[in-house]
Amino acid sequence: MCDLCEPTISEIDKKVLEPSCGNGNFLVEILERKLKKAGKDEYKVLIALSNIYGVDIARDNLEEARNRMKNIVNAHFKGKKNSASFLMAMDAILKANICYGNMLTGRKKIFLINWIPDGNGGFELEKWNFADIEKLREETKQTDIENLAKMSEELLHPPIKIPDKPKPKPKKKPEKQATLF
Ligand SMILES: C[S@@+](CC[C@H](N)C(=O)[O-])C[C@H]1O[C@@H](n2cnc3c(N)ncnc32)[C@H](O)[C@@H]1O
Repeated sequence: MCDLCEPTISEIDKKVLEPSCGNGNFLVEILERKLKKAGKDEYKVLIALSNIYGVDIARDNLEEARNRMKNIVNAHFKGKKNSASFLMAMDAILKANICYGNMLTGRKKIFLINWIPDGNGGFELEKWNFADIEKLREETKQTDIENLAKMSEELLHPPIKIPDKPKPKPKKKPEKQATLF
């Protein structure tokens, strides 16, 4: 499923939202893909992290998802000591981006942070709710949506090749039956 969203989701500055993220199975996969692009640069890693969002109604799942993502980042730096400001920023981003909400009935109450890199190692923050996000989705190029739809159709419903209808075999003339008297 993640491959269907490539090459977009691997880019560190492209946003991904998992609307029922559970304990983060998709989130960690997306994070790993983005980290490959970010390399070991702390600021790039924060940008990658800031563009991954997850919502769930089970709070224990959210905590587990955040911890799994933190472990992935730690493993990415392979024991290298990170700066205190990096660790604080990582916690703040995970707390804001992996958040509680009911995606069916409470979308107006869900607020997410748009972390805008300021180019100086920091971020400017913008508060978004789903009305903003849905507006952005409408602006997404129609061609992107069409391509994605085509790809998923090919994957989920590979065209079935119908074999040519076999030609009917010529009927054998019925052999004359011996008549018994
Ligand atoms: C089967 S799990 C899938 C988790 C994750 N997407 C994955 O693939 O590993 C379904 C998740 O959806 C969450 N969920 C169910 N209804 C929801 C809702 N209305 N809003 C947000 N999350 C919801 C559940 O708490 C659960 O964590």
